[in-house]
Amino acid sequence: MVKVTICGAAGGIGQPLSLLVKLNPQVTELSLFDVVNVPGVGADLSHINSGAVTKSFLPSSREDKTALADSLKGSDMVIIPAGVPRKPGMTRDDLFNINAGIVQSLAEGIAENAPKALILIISNPVNSTVPIVAEVLKKKGVYDPARLFGVTTLDIVRANTFISQLYPEETKPTDFEVRVVGGHSGETIVPLYSLGAKSHFEKLSDEQKKTLINRVQFGGDEVVQAKNGAGSATLSMAYAGYRLAESLLKASAGTPVTECTFLNLDPSIKGAAEAKKLVGGLEYFSFPVKLSKDGIAEVEYQILEQVSDAEKQLLAVAEEQLAKNIEKGVSFVNK
Ligand code: NAI
Repeated sequence: MVKVTICGAAGGIGQPLSLLVKLNPQVTELSLFDVVNVPGVGADLSHINSGAVTKSFLPSSREDKTALADSLKGSDMVIIPAGVPRKPGMTRDDLFNINAGIVQSLAEGIAENAPKALILIISNPVNSTVPIVAEVLKKKGVYDPARLFGVTTLDIVRANTFISQLYPEETKPTDFEVRVVGGHSGETIVPLYSLGAKSHFEKLSDEQKKTLINRVQFGGDEVVQAKNGAGSATLSMAYAGYRLAESLLKASAGTPVTECTFLNLDPSIKGAAEAKKLVGGLEYFSFPVKLSKDGIAEVEYQILEQVSDAEKQLLAVAEEQLAKNIEKGVSFVNK
């Protein structure tokens, strides 16, 4: 029996993500929560003849906390794409003022109703919203760092696609598995092409390498501009969010899987103390991690011992920005 709850299920990401989760044969209950339009999304999905029973939850007023509580109770996994997306000219950090409060209230609901759930945070800015959730869970005395994931998978998906597009005759995006570390916005995103696509990356000129890395870091802007005010990545994000969710479900069934995620480098997680030393003592960073039924089993920190000198420079820039983003999230809850 696996219950997955999606908070923000009626949104641009929430709808296609809910569809993908509805199709997963391991999921027995799909719970959809949103503050608008969710009964229609739920009714629509419920006609699909896959195994998951679909239920939707819409609060009757701003004060109504029962709908969220009911949607969350008994959840094994909670995925959060709730909040506002970017418009042209905005950075992910510009979303903080609205999304921080939304994520905080959802985290309180999780702490009270599904404290053992695996929690996947999509809402931006991920570099700050993940620390917000951690601080809320700590205050409520139910925090398990191994169960909290900042979803950075779209950066990996883009890194693989974009390098493949430079070699259209000889490669497919699925030929690559580039690890992306750091955070999830602009220069905090560090694709490690020297490890995941070495031979193809090294054939590029310095200018091409720079352009490629910049495209991974700012690839989200291409979608924001193309949508011209109608939001940011939704379909590719739903795919990416589902990939992490699916990997966790596979891991819970005993298949060893490694994925990159933005995590709290808490010493209770194997390899996290070593990882923290490699990133200037930052409390949060995205690393490849081994997954298990209990969430993050081990941080593959060794990857940072193998990076190129050019990547070390990118990491230094990422660390500086991340420190501020993390602090912003932590102090939002403790203010
Ligand atoms: P959207 O506006 O289409 O959908 C957001 C949904 O959240 C709406 O249905 C809205 O009603 C709902 N919502 C708002 N407040 C809520 C609350 N308190 N409880 C439950 N639901 C609530 O936005 P979209 O495009 O789906 O993006 C959602 C978030 O995902 C944004 O913050 C965006 O920046 C982020 N995002 C993250 C990415 C990543 O790689 N981690 C990539 C792309 C977007």
